[in-house]
Amino acid sequence: MKILIVALFATLALQNALASVKEEITATEYIENLNKEIARRTNLETEASWAYASNINAENERKKNEVSAEVAKFMKEVSTDLQKFNWQSFKSENLRRQFKMLTKLGYAALSEADYAEYLDVMSTMESNFAKVRVCDYKNATKCDLSLDPEIEDIITTSRDPEELKYYWREFYDKAGTAVRTPFEKYVELNTKAAKLNNFNSGAELWLDEYEDDSIEKQLEDIFDELRPLYQQIHGYVRYRLRQHYGDAVVPEKGPIPMHLLGNMWAQQWSSVADIVSPFPDKPLIDVTNEMVAQGYTPLKMFQLGDDFFQSMNLTKLPQDFWDKSILVKPDDGRDLICHASAWDFYIIDDVRIKQCTRVTMDQFFTVHHELGHIQYFLQYQHLPFIYRAGANPGFHEAVGDVLSLSVSTPKHLERVGLLKNYQRDDEARINQLFLAALDKIVFLPFAFTMDKYRWALFRGEVDKKDWNCAFWKLREEYSGIEPPVVRSEKDFDAPAKYHVSADVEYLRYLVSFIIQFQFYKSACIKAGQYDPTNPELPLDNCDIYGSFEAGQAFKNMLSLGASKPWPDVLEAFNGERTMSGKAIAEYFEPLRVWLEAENKKNNVPIGWTTSDKCVSS
Ligand SMILES: *[C@@H]1O[C@H](CO)[C@@H](O)[C@H](O)[C@H]1NC(C)=O
Ligand SMILES: *[C@@H]1O[C@H](CO)[C@@H](O)[C@H](O)[C@H]1NC(C)=O
Ligand SMILES: *[C@@H]1O[C@H](CO)[C@@H](O)[C@H](O)[C@H]1NC(C)=O
Ligand SMILES: [Zn+2]
Repeated sequence: MKILIVALFATLALQNALASVKEEITATEYIENLNKEIARRTNLETEASWAYASNINAENERKKNEVSAEVAKFMKEVSTDLQKFNWQSFKSENLRRQFKMLTKLGYAALSEADYAEYLDVMSTMESNFAKVRVCDYKNATKCDLSLDPEIEDIITTSRDPEELKYYWREFYDKAGTAVRTPFEKYVELNTKAAKLNNFNSGAELWLDEYEDDSIEKQLEDIFDELRPLYQQIHGYVRYRLRQHYGDAVVPEKGPIPMHLLGNMWAQQWSSVADIVSPFPDKPLIDVTNEMVAQGYTPLKMFQLGDDFFQSMNLTKLPQDFWDKSILVKPDDGRDLICHASAWDFYIIDDVRIKQCTRVTMDQFFTVHHELGHIQYFLQYQHLPFIYRAGANPGFHEAVGDVLSLSVSTPKHLERVGLLKNYQRDDEARINQLFLAALDKIVFLPFAFTMDKYRWALFRGEVDKKDWNCAFWKLREEYSGIEPPVVRSEKDFDAPAKYHVSADVEYLRYLVSFIIQFQFYKSACIKAGQYDPTNPELPLDNCDIYGSFEAGQAFKNMLSLGASKPWPDVLEAFNGERTMSGKAIAEYFEPLRVWLEAENKKNNVPIGWTTSDKCVSS
């Protein structure tokens, strides 16, 4: 009897084992087909989104939302099917990972009615943003100025505080305040969807992409390390702006009025480098005029970007890219989303960019940024659908910026004939590092607050009646800036930033700005272009153009897509497994030393007092 029981158990165990092997084989086949089907449907959805984003009208909106609703419905059915598998106990880690990722539904978890409302709310906010037009400050009958390019041109080049204030207020009223009601609905639906996905709030759902519970803390720590450098830059810029505009316009110790910083959101300040650079008599690299003089076109800018990737033995842009992209703003009167973006259509070699490209140095960097996304798409297009994504959202944003860092060096600009007779002495170098810091360091607190703010709303930590002032409080606390006019709860300013209106997570950019320096430093070492012990090979003049070694490291990383947790992917690139602020600090070290001494010498106040520019009701 005893023996029989043992024998029976053994058979059952064997049968169970066989059953689970069989289930895993079935699951493998199922997942393979599923990935193909989702890719097919997502391709159709992306085509509809593209048609809408490049030509905003009611018909394209209706079509896009129809396809999206269909895909969402399909994904919901899929998720029910996936739950029939006992996937948590599968032996294959790869299979478990795919199941886990596929069961995360996002907004598709909403009921059909709620999902339709979500799409409706998003269309309202996105089209509002795209359709903002304001009147000319100097000609009240000319009322067709759009953000890109007219208003942005004025914000970057005007030095008239009253004119800048006028455009700031017009834009925030129309792009922000106008969508307060849909935004409230959006937050509600976001929370509903997060809970249906078993997250506490939309904040946790976003953070889940980083597969690391301590990501918030890690970033806060890295930011704390870099804050002293930020404060030195901030103090110096405020001091120089006071010299330019006078004490009545710029406070000695208060937050900087943001309309003076050359950017609608004060997210990067390099456009005012001409009035705040440390050595006004020394060169400050701006090759825009040279690009225009040499007859650069948007097409040529993209060809040069393509050439950079190819020089590193990375993948060449496919023909579809050139045939289907929109590289210049169409002038046939249609509304479109001009915000530069890169698109993956999830079939082979159909990748596109939509960018209202202008011939400027900044746009030349943006071209490389967008091409970084395209390179990523091409490097992982052999993977199943669910893995065709960045190792985390920050990785995707970082790739092209690494090339931009290289393109922006005097060495590279001389190589391509855009920079001539440049004398790189210590003062020119400080100017150049300062210019870079106005973009790369200044951006860190900005990027952090975009999501800190939305996390707080998603988590229900801010009373609705305080939503606007809570935004400005964060912007003041982290960036030390304030609006040029008094705002109140009658206003609503956060959606005046595209990504807030368009429901795009922003932490990716903070992560990107930190890790891109890790990538850049390693790529430079691999390329033999950076040697900390050799003053002839400094990090801030490293050009990785033509380096197959650096290119190979990128291939190793990018071709993994999202198939592994990001520390594994980072390791494939350079052997590191953690995010760190060391590389960015190393890059800016000469500037930090100079600024500290200079600010001390001039008794420049560091830090800022509280702002009174937002009044709660
Ligand atoms: C924009 O969309 C409308 C409606 O779908 C279409 O008739 C028109 O041809 C489109 N315009 C362009 C330039 O694609
Ligand atoms: C003001 O704008 C209108 C409409 O664009 C234009 O016709 C007019 O010439 C402009 N006036 C001046 C003084 O530029
Ligand atoms: C260049 O890339 C191709 C295709 O990925 C690869 O086969 C080749 O080995 C690379 N060449 C070098 C020298 O790394
Ligand atoms: Zn991007």
